[in-house]
Amino acid sequence: MTEQWTDISAADEVPEEDVIGVQAEGKDLALYSVEGQVYATDNICTHGHARLCDGFLEGYEIECPLHQGKFDIRDGKPLCEPVVEAIRSYPVKIENGRVFVDLG
Ligand code: FES
Repeated sequence: MTEQWTDISAADEVPEEDVIGVQAEGKDLALYSVEGQVYATDNICTHGHARLCDGFLEGYEIECPLHQGKFDIRDGKPLCEPVVEAIRSYPVKIENGRVFVDLG
């Protein structure tokens, strides 16, 4: 796949140990900051239409607000039922205080 680095947000707008929702290139994304690293995934749960940015982040696990399914924010893998399908995760880099996400 071709790289498509997209400027998504200021790095300091992603709160430490928390999650925010952002729109970019027609996508609904979730940005997380854990131990100084920023991670990005799709924001919509694969089980139902819930936004993960409204969920609860603990370590590298995001818990969906609707039925409490969990995903690993590093690779999008489902961690417990009822979610069985991964969410897409995206490469992230920080440059000049900005968060770039590879949407390619
Ligand atoms: S909508 Fe996310 S677990 Fe059901």
